[in-house]
Amino acid sequence: MLVLGFPEYLPQAQRLAAALNVQLQEVFLHQFPDGESLLRLPVDLPEHIVICRSLNQPNDKLIELLLCAKTAREQGVKRLTLVAPYLCYMRQDIANQPGEAVSQRIIGKILADIFDDVITVDPHLHRISRLNQAIPIDNAISLTATEEIARFLQQKFSHAVLLGPDSESEQWVAAIAKEIGFDYSVAEKIRLGDTQVEMTLADHDFQHKTVVIIDDMASTGRTLARATTLLYAAGAVEVYAAITHPLFCGDAEAHILQSGVKEVWSTDSITHASASIHLHTLLAQAVRDIL
Ligand code: R5P
Repeated sequence: MLVLGFPEYLPQAQRLAAALNVQLQEVFLHQFPDGESLLRLPVDLPEHIVICRSLNQPNDKLIELLLCAKTAREQGVKRLTLVAPYLCYMRQDIANQPGEAVSQRIIGKILADIFDDVITVDPHLHRISRLNQAIPIDNAISLTATEEIARFLQQKFSHAVLLGPDSESEQWVAAIAKEIGFDYSVAEKIRLGDTQVEMTLADHDFQHKTVVIIDDMASTGRTLARATTLLYAAGAVEVYAAITHPLFCGDAEAHILQSGVKEVWSTDSITHASASIHLHTLLAQAVRDIL
């Protein structure tokens, strides 16, 4: 087995290869002036390749994955495993208007056609419960980073209140709270547009408390910022956030910082300065489990 890494995700691929005790090789990538990608794989590939690359900012990466996978197959690779801690296009799971693409189903099918196994972490599955409903292969594996986040928070705080900013986050905040014995509360959120959210805190005593907001991702940062503002208004003394996927689009970071959050920690599912919670042990175990 060999792990193949891409330039922008090499440290994570290196850590995964080290945890699996296998060799890592890098895919050579060149972008032509017109935006097309040239990709070159190492030669003499083994029968089983693990491609390690997260699919944030996905459009170019999806084409490059396709080129990579097809080239590997042409070289005789028998088994292709994708380890993509952040999986793209999982949020659009219905057509909200006639004619709208159901991206989750379409991209899921493309990945199923290319790969034998797909391993990801906390994918945004809203109306389905299993990843293989979106990626129709047996080994469509959805892991959760809750244990990693729980262990990280346990080292930082002897006690804190955890806040899930919306009903979807309850699965993660409840699991983390249970793991380390912290209290938790879940707010109600209504999203009015890409950068507009309304939120109401549940009836919970936040006075003089240290609070950590838990969510699967920060995209525009509006969810974290709104929750932080409400928590300070409710008397919290310190507000932090721990998230799985640090997408941080556009002015997200500035917006979150303005709200007064003291620090945001994330997993290394996406390369970002906040990524202090590493996932390689979790990912390596999942690769071992499918062998
Ligand atoms: C929503 O369902 C998700 O769990 C996150 O709360 C959301 O995607 C965060 O988005 P934003 O950072 O744009 O508020």
